[in-house]
Amino acid sequence: MTKKEQLYEGKAKKVFTTEDPSLLIVSYKDDATAFNGLKKGTIAGKGIINNRMSNALMRLLEKKGIPTHYVEELSDRDTLVKRVSIVPLEVIVRNIAAGSFAKHYGVEEGKLLACPTIEFSYKNDALSDPLINDCHILALQIATEKELNDIKTYAFRINEELKKFWASCGVTLVDFKLEFGKLADGTIVLADEISPDTCRLWDSATKEKLDKDRFRRDLGGVEDAYHEIMKRLEEHISEA
Ligand code: TMP
Repeated sequence: MTKKEQLYEGKAKKVFTTEDPSLLIVSYKDDATAFNGLKKGTIAGKGIINNRMSNALMRLLEKKGIPTHYVEELSDRDTLVKRVSIVPLEVIVRNIAAGSFAKHYGVEEGKLLACPTIEFSYKNDALSDPLINDCHILALQIATEKELNDIKTYAFRINEELKKFWASCGVTLVDFKLEFGKLADGTIVLADEISPDTCRLWDSATKEKLDKDRFRRDLGGVEDAYHEIMKRLEEHISEA
């Protein structure tokens, strides 16, 4: 399968059509942004790591019965995926208070939550991805009740699988963001990516941050953290 024309360029990926109208090629870049694009940079080799990590995790989730858009890794940066229409929601699952949750609710970053939480942001750069609740999602017809239920059920199941996998790597899954899409027949599948750009991943022993917060917060050692988390994944993915 080869790239035909560029359909879309996002902050971290490009999307291309292929000879098959039901399949697209996603190409991962090294570009990094934060705070809705206000902060810009590059993380050398990030595209390769995010492509390979996201694919490995989607293969793992497929094995556990979660439908995803993943089809085949074509190269270091390129992956063949099913064409979906993205549900314009960022689905955020949290196990430990951090980032905007810690700030909004005045909770110390690192506090273990009594149970996992879920929240949604409306994917809209012009509005800076505002938080949105279930009633708003239904009222604005962003998703149907059935779609929203599927999304929530999958999101919590994904959390359990990823938490278990990362624990086996000596890594704590603090929180993460998912996006879902609809296939032509309306089926909801996991789409976009799961990577250090979209998850908070802390070394379980030292609490060292092994994710994009190193870039967002100017902590240094960004590339080293991406390589370290990829190494941990590669050491443990075959047993998962
Ligand atoms: P937050 O605490 O800043 O709301 O982030 C929650 C999680 O979502 C964190 O793992 C980072 C991820 N995330 C994205 O993937 N994209 C985004 O645009 C934002 C704001 C967060």
